[in-house]
Amino acid sequence: MPMDRIRLARLRDRIMSPEDAALFFKDGMTVGMSGFTRAGDCKAVPFALAERASREPLQITLMTGASLGNDIDKVLTDANAISRRIPFQSDPTLRRKINAGEVMFIDQHLSETVELLRSKQIAPVDIAVVEATAITENGGIVPTTSVGNSASFAVLAKKIIVEINLKMPQALEGLHDIYIPTYRPHRLPIPLISPEQRIGLPFIPVDPEKIVAIVITEKADSPSNVLPPDHETNAIAGHLNEFLFHEVKAGRLSPSLQPLQAGIGTIANAVLHGMLDSPFRDLKMYSEVLQDSTVELLDDGRLTFASASSITLSKGAYERVLSQIDRYKQRLVLRPQEISNHPEVIRRLGLITINTALECDIYGNVNSTHVGGTHMMNGIGGSGDFARNAHLSVFVTKSIAKAGAISSIVPMVSHVDHTEHDTDIIVTEHGLADLRGLAPRERARQVIDNCTDPLYRDVLRDYFLRASRRGGHTPHLLQEAFAWHLRYEQQGSMLAHEQEAALV
Ligand code: COA
Repeated sequence: MPMDRIRLARLRDRIMSPEDAALFFKDGMTVGMSGFTRAGDCKAVPFALAERASREPLQITLMTGASLGNDIDKVLTDANAISRRIPFQSDPTLRRKINAGEVMFIDQHLSETVELLRSKQIAPVDIAVVEATAITENGGIVPTTSVGNSASFAVLAKKIIVEINLKMPQALEGLHDIYIPTYRPHRLPIPLISPEQRIGLPFIPVDPEKIVAIVITEKADSPSNVLPPDHETNAIAGHLNEFLFHEVKAGRLSPSLQPLQAGIGTIANAVLHGMLDSPFRDLKMYSEVLQDSTVELLDDGRLTFASASSITLSKGAYERVLSQIDRYKQRLVLRPQEISNHPEVIRRLGLITINTALECDIYGNVNSTHVGGTHMMNGIGGSGDFARNAHLSVFVTKSIAKAGAISSIVPMVSHVDHTEHDTDIIVTEHGLADLRGLAPRERARQVIDNCTDPLYRDVLRDYFLRASRRGGHTPHLLQEAFAWHLRYEQQGSMLAHEQEAALV
């Protein structure tokens, strides 16, 4: 029995089945669950909740840190258990319901959710469901592979259900640094001045009487689903490394750069992987998710320390890191996402941020979320927290998608997540546009010449030339600005017929 994991003995009689724990949920409640990019999600109670919801009217607002693994969003969606979802997701079934208007999705900067909760600007959390490694002598909750929003969910909720996961090594204790900002109007500066600093507690401090149920599980996190680097992502990494090396030579960066942040997904992971071939040393990360590339850099010795809110790895890397967590723990810390993504800390540390765009326009506005301007992909995640406050804000993307039917560089983005003011550098496999200190017309030339695929380069030049003749600080031809998106919607390709014919 897992009694050594529940060190406050009087809580041990609250162990129950997931089905019994799920009886605490009521229709219309707001539930805050642990889980951030597949790491540290609850592995039993969500399924019992789905089971109940498939038999009786039971719908909740579901808040998490970010996306969940183990198909939890899918299972809950299929059971019609989610009416509202905050602040991020990446599940195809849920995405379909969001885009059909059947689930209300609030796409939020990841640093902001608990600020809104704390200041009572959104509905309070009725029940927090948190995966834990252990419960301490005082009832403190020791998280597992993510912190996400779990700390504030647990502190603010009326009731807490804890899932103790026996699969998670007890040595995870000590990995976390739980700091919760003080309330306004007496808010103090967050006293974090370097990525490796610890400013909080190694557990979530809660009133143990709020823990109404403890469920025992023994299931691993879902492994990450990022793809290995390919020709294009290697080229993107190469351009970025060359640029950063140039910055070092020019004396604007030191060989250890500035603390790095890299977004989720295949491209950002591949770009960090590319740092294995770089001349940089003594790197540090201050990011929200640690992917396989972080572990590779730690193992290589090039990365000396990584701070984040979750660890999301492929199966092999996950098993390796968890089995040696005592060793890795010396150079890792997991924080609440409002701290990992906090504008104050990001600006103070001077991060180099690397996030992925679905599409960028010629002036540097970035769409990271809406396919064709209307259909939600995953959400803005932390990209806005980081890009707005970065020392150097980099966006990466392949220049084309869907075998060339889509250009990722367009005249005007069909949805704006990051404005031109938040974008310093754009990189595709063709090259890098350095937009710092440039006016819109200068930015457009950089983006078109350096980042656009040859398939679309001349048409984009022609658009910009004709728009420029009409004048304006940021020239556009409004009747044509979305013509490429319309053509894709109507014909399945952004290329005009004559361009396609020329390709055959
Ligand atoms: N229009 C339509 N679809 C596009 C597209 C565009 N302009 N650009 C890419 N896509 C499609 C790809 O074809 C691919 O589709 P598939 O899954 O059917 O193959 C999908 O988008 C993912 O693209 P991929 O090239 O594999 O990139 P990725 O895995 O790195 O994900 C984002 C890219 C933008 C979806 C992802 O990074 C994201 O959700 N970002 C927002 C959140 C964020 O940045 N968080 C960072 C802080 S952690």
